[in-house]
Amino acid sequence: MTPLDPSPSELRALAERCFAFAEEHRSAALEEPMRRPPPTNGAPKLDAESPVGLSTALEELRGAVAASWNTTSPRYMGFIPGGGLPTAALADFVALAVNRYVGIRAMAPALAGIESSVVRWLSDLIGYPETALGVLTSGGSASILTAIVAAREALLPPSAAYLRGTLYVSEEAHASVRKAARAAGFLTDSIRTVPVDARFRMDVGALDELMRADRDAGRKPFLVVASAGTTNTGAVDPIGRVCDVAERHGAWVHADGAYGGFFLLTERGRKLLGDLSRCDSVTLDPHKGLFLPYGTGALVVKRGATLARAFATNASYLRDVSADEAEPNFTDLSFEMSRDFRGLRVWLPLRLHGVGAFRDALDEKLDLTAHAYRELSRDERLEILAEPELSTLVFRPRNGDGAALLDAVNSSGRTFLSSTVLGGKVAVRMCILCFRTERCHVDDAIAAIRAAL
Ligand SMILES: Cc1ncc(COP(=O)(O)O)c(C=O)c1O
Repeated sequence: MTPLDPSPSELRALAERCFAFAEEHRSAALEEPMRRPPPTNGAPKLDAESPVGLSTALEELRGAVAASWNTTSPRYMGFIPGGGLPTAALADFVALAVNRYVGIRAMAPALAGIESSVVRWLSDLIGYPETALGVLTSGGSASILTAIVAAREALLPPSAAYLRGTLYVSEEAHASVRKAARAAGFLTDSIRTVPVDARFRMDVGALDELMRADRDAGRKPFLVVASAGTTNTGAVDPIGRVCDVAERHGAWVHADGAYGGFFLLTERGRKLLGDLSRCDSVTLDPHKGLFLPYGTGALVVKRGATLARAFATNASYLRDVSADEAEPNFTDLSFEMSRDFRGLRVWLPLRLHGVGAFRDALDEKLDLTAHAYRELSRDERLEILAEPELSTLVFRPRNGDGAALLDAVNSSGRTFLSSTVLGGKVAVRMCILCFRTERCHVDDAIAAIRAAL
């Protein structure tokens, strides 16, 4: 039986086995099929009363990993690929092994400082002033919920005004925005859907009209969520013009850069996304555009004090640690209290690879998408739904069924794409964001699409 606190040599032996297991799956990611069916006998059973050795446990896990979608493959171009840099796994190993608590600065000041340096780096990337503060979250959904609460606390005084608060999202906004708005207490009739233009970007004229009509009707428009890269097509809303309109109505602007935000690292992305610095808050998902493992999101708020006001924690049992710090504790900047030391998962890869490696990889993804666009738009059998702004390309057969095309492409096993519905018809999406994806993988995907057509 493995002791709760293994000796150094026991732990090393266990770690080496786990490392070998992880390596086996990393190599397999390059070759294995994109999807395997669920295991016939279901998930491994947990018999907590009868411990087993690590070999048995890893054997059970081996089958479970194999019976899953190969999300770290360079050929995985469905949904938004979720990264998985191996060096981030090492960071997690270290962070979980030392298990320090960074939520309250006094308990691990320099480690909390590491996490703050990551947030500061994100804030500088957006172009925010020194007043900005932020938190690392579990992902875009937690970030938007935190942002909505901050905006609500800043702009809707705690009274009946809350009930009149109205927020605005485009038809193409990610589903997490509405979900978070409901979680933050807004009824569905307080959430307005703004139409989009022919390139799936928020129609700013329509936004203005909706906000005006709501104000005239006695409602309080308080938040506009702009997309800095939609999930469906990668469209970037006209963020500067959204800010102009929102300012006129006294509303907060949150930019959802969960997918697109890190393209700010590239020159092309900067041109598209420069106005993010005008927004009151921004979501960035390192588990997408920085290729980190699932569970790594971020929210940065320009006037950080608004975040601190919304989430300040006051409890008698914290009196021993609530000493004045130069920066608020992370527990005072979000609804979370105990959580993992996420900062190391971002910090270590940046220290080891340098930001240039990420910039180059993102530039490469833009180039690969432009290549796929050029190649596929030459094919008259295909309708390309919009010239890609980022790394997502969406298309459908002119005479035929998008769903059938998707099935044929994915069953080739050479690539994995996903689909969506645009204008009432199924369209196929190709999202190039895995750090392992190279020209040969994109060419294989193009060949699979042509063969399927
Ligand atoms: C544009 C956008 N916003 C928000 C989210 C939600 O992020 P998460 O899945 O990290 O909660 C996603 C997820 O794909 C997304 O693409």
